[in-house]
Amino acid sequence: MDSRLIAKYDIPAPRYTSYPTVPYWSDSPTTSEWLEHVRNSISGENASFAMYLHIPFCETLCTFCGCNTSITKNHSVENPYIEAVTSEFNHYIAEIPELSKVELKELHLGGGTPTYLSEANLKLLLGNILSRLNVSRHPEFSIEVNPRRTRKTHLEVLREFGFTRISLGVQDFDQEVQRLINRNQTFDETKATTDDARSLGFNSVNFDLIYGLPRQTKESVRKTIAQTLELRPDRIAFYSYAHVPWIKAAQRLFTEEDLPRGEEKRALYEIGRELFEKNGYAEIGMDHFALKTDGLWKSHERGHLHRNFMGYTENRTDLLLGLGVSAISDSGTCFHQNEKILKKYEKKTMAGEFATLRGHKLSGEDIQQRNSILDLSTKWEVTLAPDIAEIVKNYLKVLEEDSLIRWEGVKLIITESGKPFLRNICMGLDFKLREHSPEMKVFSQAI
Ligand SMILES: C[S@@+](CC[C@H](N)C(=O)[O-])C[C@H]1O[C@@H](n2cnc3c(N)ncnc32)[C@H](O)[C@@H]1O
Ligand code: SF4
Repeated sequence: MDSRLIAKYDIPAPRYTSYPTVPYWSDSPTTSEWLEHVRNSISGENASFAMYLHIPFCETLCTFCGCNTSITKNHSVENPYIEAVTSEFNHYIAEIPELSKVELKELHLGGGTPTYLSEANLKLLLGNILSRLNVSRHPEFSIEVNPRRTRKTHLEVLREFGFTRISLGVQDFDQEVQRLINRNQTFDETKATTDDARSLGFNSVNFDLIYGLPRQTKESVRKTIAQTLELRPDRIAFYSYAHVPWIKAAQRLFTEEDLPRGEEKRALYEIGRELFEKNGYAEIGMDHFALKTDGLWKSHERGHLHRNFMGYTENRTDLLLGLGVSAISDSGTCFHQNEKILKKYEKKTMAGEFATLRGHKLSGEDIQQRNSILDLSTKWEVTLAPDIAEIVKNYLKVLEEDSLIRWEGVKLIITESGKPFLRNICMGLDFKLREHSPEMKVFSQAI
């Protein structure tokens, strides 16, 4: 790839899992307003919803990690947390009883490490919630697991509850990289979880890999990918390492000189992209690859692919309800995030309150821009209203000159060479970012 382009476009940029992005949420709802948005979102005849449950616990800290975690080997934290999440769920059902009738199409368990919970506690939590809901006949239930902390018996419980999708945190197989990120995970551990999941009937296995980690080299990344291909996951998330040490202090534990940057980092991505494509994977969106037999690819082909706080999903639902510390919900017209501090979250929910940290009521313009960014992230193109197209054309002129995008009237199309610059291209539609250019560092680099 052209090194001039990399130098030019490697600027701080959001990942656009929401629009407006969280730092630009401004119009927070009151509790009753938030509940009204939720009620409205599921009032249609064929309404459906998705749920996200956040389990923040991990036994050890991976130094690169940007997620909301609570690190402890003391498993006595499990029960109070399950009580708090159950209480939050009950609170929603008490306020919005119709929620228990609406079809639950998707459930995602994320973290942290959801399999930090014992099998019995996992069963307890899922039972408390799913027994009171109208679960779809073809549910899409998925979980993020850390293979070092996942037993076959965990997977058996998940299958009992209808889980068919599993995402394994792999990151990198190289021992030196693993040492620096404090994550010793053998190939055999990853293979065992993959084999167990497949033998139990999970029909989609995803691996999370990261490029840009300390001391990764072209050679080490090639090897990691070769090992990945041996296990042939159905999906691969190949994330750009987000270096945000001003938010995540543990990222200061390795020296910045060890981080591949700019052109060097982009080359690692290109190695991955080439190897994945050579081996039957298609790039379906930002950082994501899928085999053509996987549901995500099929959904991409049908033009149904959706992206939300949980990542890429096969369908769009009317509501995403996030439960647990720091969890984000989305009613389509309003965002809502829970307290990020565990003790505060538990205290508020156990007192029968909603543990709101912040939210944002979307304006008409927000919704329009959000849909456009969603189209770009799932279809590589978007058709804009003429007045908006005029503004965006102007803003993205330089990217057009560099052949990263092209226009067919008011349709903006990302070219093959433009795909790695999706975050930069989305910035052209991000009116909020342009209104209030950030005064402090908030986003990781685009490349
Ligand atoms: C919440 S973690 C759950 C995975 C599970 N706890 C594990 O470690 O196996 C989800 C994924 O986010 C990605 N991730 C975490 N921190 C990141 C960072 N700083 N930059 C890019 N990706 C990151 C990792 O690939 C990770 O597998
Ligand atoms: S990568 Fe996974 S296991 Fe490691 S700290 Fe983050 S959430 Fe926990």
